[in-house]
Formats: sequence, C-alpha cells, structure tokens
Amino acid sequence: MSSAHITFDTTGDKIARRVRKMRPSAVRNLFAAATRDDVISLSGGMPAVSLLPEEDVRRAVLAAVESPQARAVSLQYGPTDGLAGLRAVLADMMRDLGIRVKADQILVTSGAQQALTLIAEAFIDPGDIIITEGPTYLGALQAFSAFEPDIRAIPFDEDGMRMDLLEAELERIGKGNPCLKFCYTIPNFQNPGGVTMNAERRRRLLELADEYGFMVVEDDPYGRLRYDGGHQVPLKATD
Ligand SMILES: Cc1ncc(COP(=O)(O)O)c(C=O)c1O
Repeated sequence: MSSAHITFDTTGDKIARRVRKMRPSAVRNLFAAATRDDVISLSGGMPAVSLLPEEDVRRAVLAAVESPQARAVSLQYGPTDGLAGLRAVLADMMRDLGIRVKADQILVTSGAQQALTLIAEAFIDPGDIIITEGPTYLGALQAFSAFEPDIRAIPFDEDGMRMDLLEAELERIGKGNPCLKFCYTIPNFQNPGGVTMNAERRRRLLELADEYGFMVVEDDPYGRLRYDGGHQVPLKATD
C-alpha cells in the first residue's frame, strides 16, 4: 500500500481553470438532506431498500468471496471496461429493448455520472455547442460544464422536447457546424419534468441529428419504471 499526502492550494491560483468554476455538488447536498431521519425526501431517486431482493443480494455477495477462484476475481483489479459476464448480461438487456449491441461495445461505469463525464471529456472543447432539454438533470449539467460548452436548452411540453424550437435553434447554429457536438436527452420520465418524448418526436430528433450532424446522448435511468403502458422504443433502437 502506498499513500500520498497532497496539500491543496486553497487560495485558488494553482487550481485548474475548469475546476475553479465548479460548484459544490447539488446532488450531494440533496442526498445529505434525504438521509436525515426526520426527512421523507421525494427529491432524489432513492430506491426503497425494503423492495430489493435481499436473499439474492446476500447469495451474490457470499458467492463473490467464498472460494479462492471467486476472490481472485472479486478482490482483484478487474478489466477497466467491466467484467465480461456483466457486459454480456447488459448486452442481453439492451437487445430486449431492441438495441443491437455486442458485449464488447459496452463500457461499464460507476453510475451515469462517470459515463456523462467521460462523454464530456471525449467530445467537448471549450465553446462547443451541446443541446439539452431545458431544464435538465443537474448532474449532467455539472459533468458537462467543467468542459465549458455553450449549452442550448430547448423547452419541452408534455410530449417531450419541442422539435419546432429545436429546429429553430439548429437553423441558428447552422448545418455542418463543427462546434455542434451532441444533444443530451432524457426521453423517458425526464428529470425534472417527468415527461416522456412521444414516438413522432423521437423519430424527428434522429432525422435532425442526421441532417445537422450531431450525436444523441440518450440517458434512460427510468424507462423501465413505469406504472402502466408499454416501454417506449429507445432512440438507439431506431438509430
Ligand atoms: C436523468 C438522470 N441520469 C442519471 C442519474 C444518476 O445516475 P447515477 O446514479 O447512475 O449516476 C439521475 C439521477 O437522478 C438522473 O435523474
């Protein structure tokens, strides 16, 4: 085991420019309030622990440490793109939703937040244009903002992002604009709006992505949490 002692420069002049602009995580503050005993919080998407399959979790945890072979995997560094078995299961889940994907095209991350940060790091240069629903998930805004994009927020109504307003914005941005990178959307039960994008708008969004040359980042944490009705077809399934 090695350890390092880092003394941070609290005066700020040594801190990287992109970090100086960062604000304390609103999600962290929200969760701090949500875990207080006297608070019933409806603000964060906290799972009801009593509904989780306790026995299955117990068996899985024990299986991960009970034999030397299991421990050699579970207590050791793993492949950075995720365990092959998990990626195969995730690919099957994607295929159930109509998304044609192979296990080796899947990257396992520490939650959506890491995935959003990696996407931002890979695609956003300062001043690049990204499109989001307005308002949108603050964790995504936080991940993107460190890379200094020009965020264009498109209002939504009960059928999701307004395609007429998106199209007007795209006309202002211009076709083939190299600064236009991606549209981040939460098509199912949008956070914070709760609205779901209808099929017609999903189709139109993909047409516009093709026409104006931008990628679509589809964030779908809630698509399978529906009380009634069938699953909406993911954007990626019709891509
Ligand atoms: C749209 C959206 N994406 C991602 C997340 C968080 O995902 P994770 O906990 O996997 O980072 C949330 C949680 O509120 C969310 O609403």
